[in-house]
Amino acid sequence: GAIDLGPYRHYMQKEIFEQPRAISDTLEGVQGFVPALFGEGASAVLERVNAVQILACGTSYYSGMTAKYWLESIAGLPTHVEIASEYRYRKPAVNPNALVVVISQSGETADTLAALKYAKELGHKHSLAICNVPTSAMVRETELAYLTRAGAEIGVASTKAFTTQLTALYLLTMTLAKLNGRLSADEEQNQLKQLRHLPTALQSVLALEPHIIGWSETFARKENALFLGRGLHYPIALEGALKLKEISYIHAEAYPAGELKHGPLALVTEEMPVVTVAPNDALLEKLKSNMQEVRARGGELFVFADGDSQIASSQGVHVIRLPEHYGELSPILHVVPLQLLAYHTALARGTDVDKPRNLAKSVTVE
Ligand code: G6P
Repeated sequence: GAIDLGPYRHYMQKEIFEQPRAISDTLEGVQGFVPALFGEGASAVLERVNAVQILACGTSYYSGMTAKYWLESIAGLPTHVEIASEYRYRKPAVNPNALVVVISQSGETADTLAALKYAKELGHKHSLAICNVPTSAMVRETELAYLTRAGAEIGVASTKAFTTQLTALYLLTMTLAKLNGRLSADEEQNQLKQLRHLPTALQSVLALEPHIIGWSETFARKENALFLGRGLHYPIALEGALKLKEISYIHAEAYPAGELKHGPLALVTEEMPVVTVAPNDALLEKLKSNMQEVRARGGELFVFADGDSQIASSQGVHVIRLPEHYGELSPILHVVPLQLLAYHTALARGTDVDKPRNLAKSVTVE
């Protein structure tokens, strides 16, 4: 191919391992959370917006779902997130001063472009693109933009585009929080430090690959898997399930763990591996009781904990611990082992990892 694979077997694996570099490039030049990061005239726009409307498809939609948690809890802005292909065909009640944020790796996804156009027709005054392709239609058609610097993404299953989108969305959250008087100068410095340390933290997550390869041998023999997460990590569970189904063709579903008892628990038997995204956050204790419910039905748990979560391996409970606890930025780290799990499971099943059947990298037709 045009881009050398180096030591990697597939573009997807290469792109997973490029994430520390991609995030560091995406943060290049960021000295503070200032409107100018989002383009000329951003100041007047960002000062005025009183809500956020996110529109996207696929993996980009899940980065938007994660951002909703940030934008509401940190910036205090009411945020709606919607799949572009749904939004464009209904009659939403519009708040003209809500900032429309379109998120797209390619910047050419037909449904997202149509949703953006529709949002403007409905009276939305302001729009911003988070996009990986500077020359794309989406960047041309929005007032403001933040360009992620993931570099060309070739694997159909998106990886580095997702984590760089999350990085950009966190910058947007911090900028809006600062404008709303919710970020002190000290806290700004602290946040910048955390962001700059992300590439290093990611390196140590990538070093977990051999352990994840061990787990993938179990997954490769299954036809179903369940992913659980709570709060900020529910969208990460969704993204983990999407990765697994896209490239390994294993049926995977994700649930916010509190919903387990309202349906999916009926599916849990010894044959159902349950992946749990379990960083040490305010919801960990609740998540642990959800895990008990799975164990009681014979379900085998595969837990991604972190340095601070008090979860130990035991009969039927396998634990991989991410080295650091990363607070609000934890989704950026926790998605990476899920990408690796999907990749190695697909590899073990012998599927065409970079070009999964029936899927396209960029969906430019409806
Ligand atoms: C396709 C790709 C996905 C991607 C989605 C949205 O389905 O296979 O990986 O997440 O399109 O693409 P975009 O370029 O808008 O992020």
